[in-house]
Amino acid sequence: MRDEPLVLGIETSCDETGVGIVRGHTLLADALASSVEQHARFGGVVPEVASRAHLEAMVPTMQRALDEAGVTLADIDAIAVTSGPGLAGALLVGVAAAKGYALAAEKPIYGVNHLAAHVAVDTLEHGPLPEPAIAMLVSGGHSSLLLVDDLATGVTPLGATIDDAAGEAFDKVARLLGLGFPGGPVIDRRAREGDPGAIAFPRGLTAAKDQAAHRFDFSFSGLKTAVARWVEARERAGEPVPVADVSASFQEAVCDVLTAKAIDACRTNGVATLVIGGGVAANSRLRVLAEQRAEKHGIRVRVPRPALCTDNGAMVAALGSRLVAAGVAPSRLDLPADSAMSLTTVSVTE
Ligand code: KG4
Ligand code: ZN
Repeated sequence: MRDEPLVLGIETSCDETGVGIVRGHTLLADALASSVEQHARFGGVVPEVASRAHLEAMVPTMQRALDEAGVTLADIDAIAVTSGPGLAGALLVGVAAAKGYALAAEKPIYGVNHLAAHVAVDTLEHGPLPEPAIAMLVSGGHSSLLLVDDLATGVTPLGATIDDAAGEAFDKVARLLGLGFPGGPVIDRRAREGDPGAIAFPRGLTAAKDQAAHRFDFSFSGLKTAVARWVEARERAGEPVPVADVSASFQEAVCDVLTAKAIDACRTNGVATLVIGGGVAANSRLRVLAEQRAEKHGIRVRVPRPALCTDNGAMVAALGSRLVAAGVAPSRLDLPADSAMSLTTVSVTE
């Protein structure tokens, strides 16, 4: 609809410079520049390199987004920007740029939470989110289960990883298998030729003794170590490492735990909608297993298409659009870049 607000979103929390433009729930532009190749040889994102790449990519990515949507900055009703959590220097580039654009074009600015934006992006594909919903966020930096009462104002953390994030586990296991960075997409691919039941890797925090204190928490570092030990034993014995079977069995362990805990969170809270977001939500096995398990309990699973799961500007615009629609006050022009922003802060309101 023409009269819905036109919102521009800027994302620079990690290695993707993203500028997205939405009108209501309609995606008009999603321009992205990635510095992932500059980090590949280091096996992980180098913060200083990411910040410099954002600085170079910001203006051209903004121009591409405006061109793609066929609008000018003057047409935009509000600018949203990832305020945190993320890499401090990387966030600073996006926040400073957003302030510049907001000041020059006299637009309200919304500093938003990157994780809430990973949830909001799904509305661009599946429409308004039925609330309450359970959200599972699985990315390179986070693995969390949240109860979403109202995405604009109230999310309650139910649990999170106590060590490595799910995506981090994919990246580390890929590294020890010599598969390159980022690890998720390549393990996903290699796992298709492997047997998920070939090796019984551990399922962290699923034992009966963990139910009381860690029912909705995750742990992936034990799994990573188990994979490393298994591979080392093979190599020591002079035997070839069956990369496809290791990939499939590792991936199965991660997806088994994630989906079991997400469904448990839905059932415990009497919630019928599960939305999955973050880079790991692009995983093909996770999508299938979540769907299969949810169906048995009458739970609807919503996962955006893979390109919207990984970091992008559209997710920030989607959350901005929701905030504008809900009448949430914009942020002040001196809003911070907050690398450790709390999950319960959806947007910076003072
Ligand atoms: O959300 P995201 O783009 O950035 C962060 O906020 O961290 O997530 C990146 C993470 C990386 O760890 C990457 O390996 C993982 O998401 N990832 C995947 C897949 N695609 C990306 N993990 C498993 N399967 C995939 N298909
Ligand atoms: Zn992310």
